[in-house]
Order: sequence, then structure tokens, then C-alpha cells
Amino acid sequence: MTMSAHTLRYWLVAIFWPAVQCLLIEASRDFPLGSEVENLALRPSGSILATVYTSPHIYEVMQSPDSTPRLLHVFQNTTGACGIAESSTPDVFFVVTGNFSFENLSPIPWSYAIHRLAFEKCGRPIVEEIAALGTIAQPNGMTAVPNTPYVLIADSYGGFVYRFNTETLQLTTYLDHPLLKPQPVAGIVFGVNGVKLSRGHLYFSNSNQQIVARIKATGTEVALDGGPEIVAISTPADDFIVNDLNGDVYIAQSEPANGIGFVSKEAYGSAPITIAGGPNSTALLGPTAAIWAKGAEGQTLIVSVTGGFEQFFTKNYTGGGKVAIVHLE
Ligand SMILES: *[C@@H]1O[C@H](CO)[C@@H](O)[C@H](O)[C@H]1NC(C)=O
Ligand SMILES: *[C@@H]1O[C@H](CO)[C@@H](O)[C@H](O)[C@H]1NC(C)=O
Ligand SMILES: *[C@@H]1O[C@H](CO)[C@@H](O)[C@H](O)[C@H]1NC(C)=O
Ligand SMILES: *[C@@H]1O[C@H](CO)[C@@H](O)[C@H](O)[C@H]1NC(C)=O
Repeated sequence: MTMSAHTLRYWLVAIFWPAVQCLLIEASRDFPLGSEVENLALRPSGSILATVYTSPHIYEVMQSPDSTPRLLHVFQNTTGACGIAESSTPDVFFVVTGNFSFENLSPIPWSYAIHRLAFEKCGRPIVEEIAALGTIAQPNGMTAVPNTPYVLIADSYGGFVYRFNTETLQLTTYLDHPLLKPQPVAGIVFGVNGVKLSRGHLYFSNSNQQIVARIKATGTEVALDGGPEIVAISTPADDFIVNDLNGDVYIAQSEPANGIGFVSKEAYGSAPITIAGGPNSTALLGPTAAIWAKGAEGQTLIVSVTGGFEQFFTKNYTGGGKVAIVHLE
């Protein structure tokens, strides 16, 4: 018997589908309707910070099922909060704010700024603006360079990775490469999206080009040597996370994929396998980012979900955003 494409597909479904079904996914209660939950960071306590891009809000969410998102801070002079990363000082975070038009799906020039968010002993956040980020057309994913004052910031619109020194306020272009550039689809300009430093590389996703790639980098050098290597193809990638221990990559895949795409280190260069959610599932509607739960690298993902992206465009709100907990084992 020769194996037809149909039989092969049957076997692939038989092998992979049960795994999807078995993963336990839990979720927080909904954010207020109309909240586009955009990005995540983990506090040393294990609680989760979640930014919202359709309103200038940052929430704290406990990592337990049905926990209620607690409004932590309202940013002034902006309509939304996007990238967030923990600094080299524990429990001190950098947050980017800016005005993004969900009607035109485009950023408002000169509206972006970066803030420092720290916590007092009693848990109240102290927020101060560090600088305007006017020259970055659309700041998106952000990651801190360990033990330095640097953050790397993706520019989805310009297709660059910038490095910003949070002490001297110096902004430089860190990486400029064709794999960072937008290739507008139906007028939607979204190039490089997430950025992460892991295993001696800078990993990045590009939403328009539907890839994740990586290039040798520490975040401290002035110029990068060599070229990028493709990690994943055919992926409607938003942000993502790498397992630092083994190089496996977990991608928050937007609509219509609506799930977590997985690429093992051995499978770099291929299309991800959906391991949670999926096109016919409502478990992870419009995921935007994924991080590891406290002390659970490779075991438990925290995923921000919007409840469906289209609602922010149509303003016909159909479902609340959430923070989902995905148990990988
Ligand atoms: C961004 O939005 C805020 C709040 O609505 C507004 O005050 C500010 O003028 C806007 N900035 C720009 C550059 O449009
Ligand atoms: C509003 O934000 C913009 C962009 O960061 C900044 O240039 C401007 O100075 C801010 N205005 C006020 C009143 O804070
Ligand atoms: C989703 O459902 C449609 C219609 O029932 C089906 O044709 C398709 O194969 C399903 N896709 C997946 C990935 O299960
Ligand atoms: C809003 O969305 C709901 C659910 O998808 C749909 O039933 C309804 O017709 C929509 N309303 C408008 C005004 O488009």
C-alpha cells in the first residue's frame, strides 16, 4: 500500500491532534471589553504584567485560573501601551507607550515614549517617562540586554532593530536586514515584531514575512557579524518565546491560526506545529505574546490573547482579552 497524501494527513492528525487536545489551558477572567492585550512580562513573584494597546493601561494578573486582572497604572498623554521588558534590575520594567490607530492599523508618528516602572515596598508602581522615541516609526517587541542599560526595540514599520541606552538615552540602529522589513499585505505594514536574546542569538519574528529567524548576537556589540538563519516559515507570527535550555521556539500565531506554533531546535527552518489552540479552536483567540511562567521554562507558557483582533478594527466588541496559562506537560 502506498501512502497517499490523504492517508499521510490522517496519520499526522492522528499523531498530533491528541497532543493538542490533552494540553490543559486555563485562563484569567476577561479584561474589560475592548482591551487589546498586547504584551507580557513576569514579576519575580510570578505575577504577570500585561499591557493594553487600545487603552493606556497596564494590568497585573496572578498566575491562577479565573484571577481578575487588576489595573495597575494609567499612562498619560497616550492611547496605548505596547512593549514591556524587565530591566537588569529585578522587578523594574521598561514599558513603551504610543498612539496606534486600530482604524488604519498604523502608528501615529512621534507619539511613542519609553517609561520605567518600578515597585515600592507596598507594591504601588512608580512610573516615570525616560524619553520620547520619536525616530522609531512603530516600536513593537522589546527585550533588555542582561547586565547592561540597553534595550533592543523592534520597529515594525521601518524594519529595524534599535538599541536604546536607558541611562544615556542614546538610540542607535542595531540591526538592519531585509528579513526585518515589512512586506505589506493588504496595506498592513508589520515587519519585525518580537525580539528575544537567547543562546547567543537575537531571535526575531516578522509578521508580514511570516517567519522567525535568528542571528548571532549578545546585544552588546556595535555591529553584528554574519547573517540570519531562518527558524520558522509560514507562521502568522506575533511575539514568541525561546526555551533557553534547548532552543525550542513557541510562537503566538495570530488569526486565523489562533494558537501556539512550536518549532523544536531540530526542526529549525520548517513550519511550526500547532500545539495549543488552532484555527478551529476558541481557546486562544488572537494570541499576541508568550512568556514562561515563573520557574517553568519548557513547562508552562503564559499567553496574552485579545479575544479576536477584528473587534478592535470594527469596534463591534465580541470577546474579552485574557491571560492564558498553557501547561505543556
Ligand atoms: C496621543 O494621544 C494622546 C491622548 O489622546 C494625545 O494627547 C496626544 O496628543 C497624541 N499624540 C500624538 C502625537 O498624536
Ligand atoms: C506627549 O508625548 C510625546 C511623545 O512622547 C512627547 O513628545 C510630548 O512631550 C508629551 N507631552 C506631554 C505634555 O507630556
Ligand atoms: C477546521 O474545520 C474545517 C471545517 O469543519 C475543516 O475543514 C478543517 O480541516 C479544520 N481544520 C483543522 C486544522 O482542524
Ligand atoms: C457584531 O458581532 C456579532 C458576533 O459576531 C454579530 O452577531 C453582529 O451581527 C455584529 N454586529 C454588527 C453591527 O456588525
